[in-house]
Amino acid sequence: MSSQDAEAIVLPLRSDEDVVRLRQAVREQLVSLGFSLIDQTKIVTAASELARNTLRYGGGGEAHVGKLESNGRRGLGLSFIDQGPGIENVELALADGYTSGGGLGLGLGGAKRLSDEFDIQTAPGKGTTIRIVKWKSF
Ligand SMILES: Nc1ncnc2c1ncn2[C@@H]1O[C@H](COP(=O)(O)OP(=O)(O)O)[C@@H](O)[C@H]1O
Ligand SMILES: [Mg+2]
Repeated sequence: MSSQDAEAIVLPLRSDEDVVRLRQAVREQLVSLGFSLIDQTKIVTAASELARNTLRYGGGGEAHVGKLESNGRRGLGLSFIDQGPGIENVELALADGYTSGGGLGLGLGGAKRLSDEFDIQTAPGKGTTIRIVKWKSF
């Protein structure tokens, strides 16, 4: 995880309450970085979807939330990490409407569209790490 900074906050994702806490922490960081309300909503939504997937499909895990700075731009980086079953077919999982668990199948694709950067590291039996980044527009 190259751009994961040392001072990232680590939050457990083991329960619905943890997802609520994650949403609050992400909102606070976005506010303190001066993100617009619409960008706050986008990234809290993306974070919420990914956190729910970590819980539901990954068997729980953790989120890392950290401020970023690059070329004078500031942003927020979020990683969702689990040691669950992994995703066999990433392209299929990203497709709108695909769900293996009776959901709406919009979480992964939606999170990708709402973020500036989106990266999945996953393999069957090896768990899943999804990282998103949102940069503050000038
Ligand atoms: N952390 C994860 N570990 C394993 N599989 C996952 C994970 N996140 C997503 N998936 C797979 O990707 C599919 C699509 O996810 P998503 O778009 O959020 O839809 P939904 O949550 O409604 O099923 C899930 O149904 C699941 O099969
Ligand atoms: Mg989902």
